[in-house]
Amino acid sequence: MDLNKNRLSQIFTPDYIAEFMVKNIKQYYISTHNESNINEIKILEPCAGEGVFIEHILGEGFTDITAYELDQNLKIPLLESYPNVELKFENFLGSDSNEKFDIIIGNPPYLGQNYNAQIFQELVKNYSVCRKYFVGNMDLFYFFIHLGIEKLKPGGLLSFITTNYWLTKSKKTGITLLKPHIAKDCFLIQYIDLSNINVFKDAKGQHNCIFILQKKHEKEKQKKVDKLIDVIQVKQGNNQFNEKSNEKFFTDILNNENSPHLLKYQSAITNKDLITSNGWNLKYPLDVKYLVKKIENYCRFNGSKSYLTDFFVIRNGLILIKDEIFVLKENESLKIVDSDMFIKIDNTFVKLNDEEKQKLKKMFKSKVIEPFSYDKSEFSGYLIYLDKNEFKNKNLKKRNEFTEKKYPNLTAYLNQFRGELENILRNAKENVKDIYFPRRGSLITQFDIEHKRKLVNLEPYYDKEPKIFFSYISKSNAFGYTKDSYYATSDTYFLWLREGKNDIDYLFLLAYLNSKIVKFLFKAKNIMIKRSKTKLEEEIPIPNISLFRSPYHLELIDLIRYFTLNLTQNKVSIDTNKLLKLREISSNIYSQILNEKNPQSIIDMLFIRLFDLVDKDIDFLLEKYY
Ligand SMILES: C[S@@+](CC[C@H](N)C(=O)[O-])C[C@H]1O[C@@H](n2cnc3c(N)ncnc32)[C@H](O)[C@@H]1O
Repeated sequence: MDLNKNRLSQIFTPDYIAEFMVKNIKQYYISTHNESNINEIKILEPCAGEGVFIEHILGEGFTDITAYELDQNLKIPLLESYPNVELKFENFLGSDSNEKFDIIIGNPPYLGQNYNAQIFQELVKNYSVCRKYFVGNMDLFYFFIHLGIEKLKPGGLLSFITTNYWLTKSKKTGITLLKPHIAKDCFLIQYIDLSNINVFKDAKGQHNCIFILQKKHEKEKQKKVDKLIDVIQVKQGNNQFNEKSNEKFFTDILNNENSPHLLKYQSAITNKDLITSNGWNLKYPLDVKYLVKKIENYCRFNGSKSYLTDFFVIRNGLILIKDEIFVLKENESLKIVDSDMFIKIDNTFVKLNDEEKQKLKKMFKSKVIEPFSYDKSEFSGYLIYLDKNEFKNKNLKKRNEFTEKKYPNLTAYLNQFRGELENILRNAKENVKDIYFPRRGSLITQFDIEHKRKLVNLEPYYDKEPKIFFSYISKSNAFGYTKDSYYATSDTYFLWLREGKNDIDYLFLLAYLNSKIVKFLFKAKNIMIKRSKTKLEEEIPIPNISLFRSPYHLELIDLIRYFTLNLTQNKVSIDTNKLLKLREISSNIYSQILNEKNPQSIIDMLFIRLFDLVDKDIDFLLEKYY
């Protein structure tokens, strides 16, 4: 059974979900078709398991049912229970795509290609549908969707319960063929987001969804017909398994009951918006879209919308050969006495020369990042940061000799680990001579005004230029800032200004990135920072400060800068002289600021005024949908 659980992904669907899905698709089918004779409707369950879907399909009065199941252990019980169903104990992926159906429904097996490469290789070898649609990083159930689409009659419906990650995945993540196939041949007509509840007891933490696809008629393709997408969000939160409340959600959906735990709306995204290479952010109600548009109206430069990527290159911090060797811990491999520093070589502490001391940099982990700043006391050690390009010598041997001469103790320290460092470089197919330097993160490529490529050394930027940075895993908008020396490893992303964008207003931008407005955009656009930061770069619009011209707006911007500067310097008190001008312009906001003690809330309030929004609107939408 365990083996089957893994290979065949035998997690069976709870009865109430199968019942819901069958009734739900029947409702959709009846409302979109004239067919009155239920015996004429051909239904397919591609992976029957113990038959929970078949049970409810029969229960709803359907008679023309075909089902596949690969597990021979299920053959006898299925045959005994469902003698009138056309049961096929063979691989569904080998079935004939010319055998067409009106409805396809089920819970296909989920299995990631990454960890099961061999199973996928066999499938590709044996089945043409798998050859046609194989993509690295895909999931097994994608094949079931592909073949399902091929086996649908025009106008026919397919409803599956699956994990929901494929919807939000964008480029290069296994959906390269799935999304184009769906968008070309089908309409997505219903999406039920179950990510807030746990539906499979044995798959804790999994995020699931139920969706319905409708196969397009040729005419609809030619006329480029568009269709709306019905969205249902189960709002309950906390992703705990609770069968009773889960069951109630599904009966409420079917009975069209109003429930505080359910949200039903038509997505502001319609089928024509489903760009095949992007994440599909279907949870996008119209009222959220209006607010996003309003914000984006202030983010236009020469008429076109500007995003973070137009101003910044976002890059990870440093990748070292081995953090434990390159980051020195005080009182372990490093001693500091007054302004002298000593490094441990062969069990003796040796004094560093002045130039060497310059090359030890305070290193921070992403957990210290706070909005507007960072926790200075929590640095994790001193990084040995030698610059590969300091001695402009193409000969690596010579370059290392110069480095050893100028930094004798730092290089001697690293040489103690030479074998280990060389091994790591060799395994990574990198130059084994480069044991003194960071592997990545000390240079970025920039393009000058004539689009010429050039490499920029980041050391002076890490050392003293203004920097905005954020954690590589985060659901919220917490952007740190400093002008001081700040080095970090790859768990931190840095925003590096693009060439020619030097006139950016750092304090204003920092305030904006940490504001409630960007918090709202994170939710509205479903932005989560994980390994991929592209969503952030391409989805966070950047306000054009020159669009705000009135004395009132300029005063708001000035105050945003003032409070932001205070926050970056951890100042709490307000200099009321700063507010005198505001008092003349708007006594109302003036008194609101005096009443509000928290500088972050004051900044939020100022932004809301600046963007001509209503505070309650944002709170209301955040509360309602997220
Ligand atoms: C996630 S379970 C769901 C079973 C059933 N539809 C349900 O909802 O309870 C997937 C089922 O698909 C079967 N299966 C896996 N790969 C299959 C394939 N290529 N063809 C047919 N059935 C398959 C497994 O044995 C398993 O019973």
